[in-house]
Amino acid sequence: MKFFIDTANLEEIREAQDLGVLDGVTTNPSLMAKEGISGEENVRSHYKAICDIVDNNVSAEVIATDFEGMVREGEELAAIDDKIVVKVPMIRDGVKALKHFSNAGIRTNCTLIFSAGQAILAAKAGANYVSPFIGRLDDVSTNGIELIAQIVGIYDNYGFTTEVLAASVRHTMHLIECAEIGADVATCPLKVIMGLLNHPLTDKGLAQFLADHKKANEQVTA
Ligand code: E4P
Repeated sequence: MKFFIDTANLEEIREAQDLGVLDGVTTNPSLMAKEGISGEENVRSHYKAICDIVDNNVSAEVIATDFEGMVREGEELAAIDDKIVVKVPMIRDGVKALKHFSNAGIRTNCTLIFSAGQAILAAKAGANYVSPFIGRLDDVSTNGIELIAQIVGIYDNYGFTTEVLAASVRHTMHLIECAEIGADVATCPLKVIMGLLNHPLTDKGLAQFLADHKKANEQVTA
């Protein structure tokens, strides 16, 4: 399973990269705005800065919603760095753009997926990644994890190579359930990745090991 971090914050990206388990980054216009990044040049150099930290897979989202605009923006984003994956929304012109980018050898991530039908369309159009939003479905009393399982099953049935990228992951159980049902990737905030570390019995066990070691060594030197 690949781990992506869902942020445009360079410090958080560095911290996750430093842990040694990071496979990529996803951003969206809201996350870029949260970091105060605006204006074409600043956006581009911020994406470049992200690419310089991680090994691969930096999703950069187009703002245009028409086919020509998405193609122009996507090609500009892809030219920033080979690590860029162009993020395209699941709308009619987005599907056309996915097909265009697939033919042009530009990697894509189809975002704002909320149904299996949308995921089928994205795969048919040649998306490299498809991003179903778990947390936002849970927010409206719909089981986001069930959608991930449904898409994984459908892709398996037909051998689609599109990777299921579980997005809008809010907590560690989301991530673990995604792993159980075979999601290819989970993108989550830093706190969710770091949250996987924690178990009180690990802390208690380590404290005991260190105390025993200290006691044994005090006896040797006494
Ligand atoms: C993924 O690509 C999205 O940017 C993200 O996961 C959305 O998460 P949110 O619902 O917590 O905003």
